[in-house]
Amino acid sequence: MKARIALLPGDGIGPEVCAEARRLLELVAAEGGHAFTLEEGQIGGCAIDATGDPLPAATVALCERSDAVLLGAVGGPKWSDPDAPVRPEQGLLRLRAQLGVFANLRPVAPHPAAIRLAPLRSRLLRGVDILFVRELTGGSYFGARRREADAAVDETRYSVAEIERVTRVAARLARQRRRRLTHVDKANVLETSRLWRSTVNRVMREEFPDIELEHVLVDAMAMHLLTRPARFDVVLTENLFGDILTDEASVLAGSMGLLPSASLGAGRVGLYEPIHGSAPDIAGRGIANPYATLLSVALLLRHSLGLTAEAERVERAVGAALDAGVLTADLSRRGAVSTRKAGEAVLDHYRHLARQAGR
Ligand code: IPM
Ligand code: MG
Repeated sequence: MKARIALLPGDGIGPEVCAEARRLLELVAAEGGHAFTLEEGQIGGCAIDATGDPLPAATVALCERSDAVLLGAVGGPKWSDPDAPVRPEQGLLRLRAQLGVFANLRPVAPHPAAIRLAPLRSRLLRGVDILFVRELTGGSYFGARRREADAAVDETRYSVAEIERVTRVAARLARQRRRRLTHVDKANVLETSRLWRSTVNRVMREEFPDIELEHVLVDAMAMHLLTRPARFDVVLTENLFGDILTDEASVLAGSMGLLPSASLGAGRVGLYEPIHGSAPDIAGRGIANPYATLLSVALLLRHSLGLTAEAERVERAVGAALDAGVLTADLSRRGAVSTRKAGEAVLDHYRHLARQAGR
């Protein structure tokens, strides 16, 4: 097949992990006889330095003419002055809004090798397989903001339509999994949460009566995620709660360096990114974990290109590299490998699996 893929490496470790993603995409194309056009664009701090804008018009145009966008990470101490008028994160938020990718999928299923490394008891982690669906283009991230003389306001606003469409995405995914949906809110306090709760109830009753639905308050969820994570299947929540809970859930997977994400909308273009940040403390040293970005490539192959076999092969290749003990510094103190070595291991396993399947 033919596909255009935009690569936005961004800042910090972004370029290092995206270099491995590029190699993997080139290998997937070569092994499968696909023609991928890979084009790079700027976003975040590097784009501010080059153009003054964290999301230059050229980058938007590139993304809009692509089938999928793979992003590294944005931000860093150089641009982190909270009073600065332009910030790298604005580029990412504007891109999400521009592409209309309202459903952010963040799967958390700890690999056996990572279970040993996670700071939590392995007994708790066995059987954990959660798919977070975080609303991504609404709520306090996009509400009106203002500063008053001695106060500040961030508005949280959700429409029924915004809640309905992301609920449908989550429910359809639950149907392909264990048919359980946990909706997380703060309906005992927030009006937006009460609207979420009644809207989710109605959509699920009318369109998905076969899916088991529960509502959990976000504070309780923060606890349940660490005390009984294995009981959750699909978890649906609003933008800010989803941001916080998915960082918490990354502890279940052993490292932030292992978690990919896919952001999907009604349109064709999907946005794929590791959930970790730009990690300025280790940037430029070639030691960042590329697995979350490579797993994001798997999601890209599956959700934007429909290449299911290739996607599974990438996931198996990353699993095989973990099994073989090819671990970067976030996962291992002794004998940690470089970003390049970890990427190379995944490529080797991918090549092997592709040729095995071809025989
Ligand atoms: C994430 C990040 C972003 C967010 C930041 C960089 C704006 O934390 O993707 O989770 O808050 O959405
Ligand atoms: Mg976050």
